[in-house]
Amino acid sequence: MIKKSWATWVVGLGLGALASTGAMALEQKSETEKGIDRYRELLQDGNPAELWEMQGEELWKKKAGPKNVSLEQCDLGLGPGVIKGAYVSLPRYFADAGRVMDLEVRLAWCMEKLQGITPKVAQYDRGDHKNIVALVTYIATASKGLPVNVPQSHPEEKKMYQLGKRAFFHRTGPYDFSCATCHSAENVRIRLQGLPDLTKNQPAGQAFTSWPAYRVSNSQLWPMQKRLEDCFRQMRYPELQFGSDASVALSVYMGVNGKGVPSLAPTIKR
Ligand code: HEC
Repeated sequence: MIKKSWATWVVGLGLGALASTGAMALEQKSETEKGIDRYRELLQDGNPAELWEMQGEELWKKKAGPKNVSLEQCDLGLGPGVIKGAYVSLPRYFADAGRVMDLEVRLAWCMEKLQGITPKVAQYDRGDHKNIVALVTYIATASKGLPVNVPQSHPEEKKMYQLGKRAFFHRTGPYDFSCATCHSAENVRIRLQGLPDLTKNQPAGQAFTSWPAYRVSNSQLWPMQKRLEDCFRQMRYPELQFGSDASVALSVYMGVNGKGVPSLAPTIKR
């Protein structure tokens, strides 16, 4: 009953038809779902994210900023310059910054501290954020296939997990939605899009490592912060601020839930 009532809400809000929850959907994949699977297979043949990856590699190695140094000395958590495995073990606590950072925030921090740039990252794909999108793609690609291993050893990391969990279940905004409204049940979809249950290990790990993703629908490359911002928008919440505690905490929550799942990024999405 509860599911039905919020499903009615979603349809009523013009977010699209929300189809089968529950037993029926579990029994067999519909023709539509099979169609989507085929479409996804076809898309895997070539992912334009490679262009961002190449650009990211260049940006990583190029000397830039007032200090004219490259980012190659940036410590993403595994030591200066170590890229492989960094993406799957972020967000984490950084003693030099005194806070838990995700990959995007850490890159902005390195630009500032190493290169002497004051990074303009407030707007998606504008200013220095454009570079961050490319860098994230390059760095994420180096962890493809590696298991998610977001640390929980520092007290600040544990605090961020709890904060992320609270944010995930907190209902607010004009529709009284929480993330859990759309992302804590199996076989829920809006239009053709399956909504992963982010409280469960496998779907959480896959969703967590699906971004950056190339979006066929708008030819954009979205990193995780942008993905989350778009869900905020769908919930009619105030804009999610780049690098805010909420944005990082939600990633910690998903990453820890997704422990051990092999990393997929960069992916391709509709
Ligand atoms: C109104 C329903 C709704 C709410 C509430 C919502 N989302 Fe989403 N979310 C979506 C839709 C739709 C997609 C796109 C699914 C697709 O394209 O396959 C999505 C996708 C995602 C993805 C990417 C999943 C993947 O596998 O690629 C993540 C991560 C995510 N949401 C996190 C969140 C978080 C965190 C919140 C709370 C801040 C939230 N969402 C709230 C509807 C919602």
